[in-house]
Amino acid sequence: MQVVILDSPEAVAEYGAQIFIRQLKKQPHSVLGLATGSTPVALYQKLIDANQKNEISFRDVTTYNLDEYLGLEGDHPQSYRHFMNQQLFDHIDIDKTRTYVPPGSASNPIQACDEYEQMIAASGGINIQLLGIGRNGHIGFNEPSSGLLSRTRVKTLTQETIDDNARFFSEDEYQPHLSITMGIGTILDSQQVVLLATGSSKADAIYRAVEGPMSASCPASALQMHQNAVIVIDEAAAANLEHREFYKHIERENQKLLAQLGN
Ligand code: GLP
Repeated sequence: MQVVILDSPEAVAEYGAQIFIRQLKKQPHSVLGLATGSTPVALYQKLIDANQKNEISFRDVTTYNLDEYLGLEGDHPQSYRHFMNQQLFDHIDIDKTRTYVPPGSASNPIQACDEYEQMIAASGGINIQLLGIGRNGHIGFNEPSSGLLSRTRVKTLTQETIDDNARFFSEDEYQPHLSITMGIGTILDSQQVVLLATGSSKADAIYRAVEGPMSASCPASALQMHQNAVIVIDEAAAANLEHREFYKHIERENQKLLAQLGN
């Protein structure tokens, strides 16, 4: 894993955005895996800015989102489809018919999960998968105890995740307890994974993901098995890492190397 520790959430968003911008310049027909939550919002804003300045185009891009609440229609204000439209898709030159979010309102969710896997495969797989992380170490909605090679499926949310996400729902609003999520195995199949985390509330999850044993009790720890996983975090989220000075040293060396290579 490449662990990149930066001074601020703004720097985390910028570093993450540059990975996507480089990818889109190199491969305009990219397949991107996208995430919801508050963490990627600043990165999406940077992609919107780059698109509006004609630095990158999404015309030929296909996207797959990680997860969706089961039982919410795509036009529900708390659905992840609605979130993605508002935070990204409505503001860029993407063909929305190629933006896929697991269908939370599917009449047969189990079949819909298999179809989602088939669609990703038919697109040729995901080039870069963006991830946030839950305080309990979840990625997508792969809660602790998720199989480390699991595929897209219906997943029950933990009370901790329901409580963390309750801030998005009004008091009398129905908040789903089930989701459809890409599996950890689905995520691991992506060519590259970029996980962003900021703030002290993520410090324990980041410690367990990066330096803890690989275990289903911290789903993000499965990224230790990925051949190209970049963990981009701010100082607050890095606070519990034992080897953080070493990670900073590695990143400085990487940047020197890239400068020498003219990148
Ligand atoms: C939700 C999403 C995750 C996301 C997590 C953290 O549970 N399903 O994909 O990583 O929230 O969200 P935030 O970035 O708001 O902390």
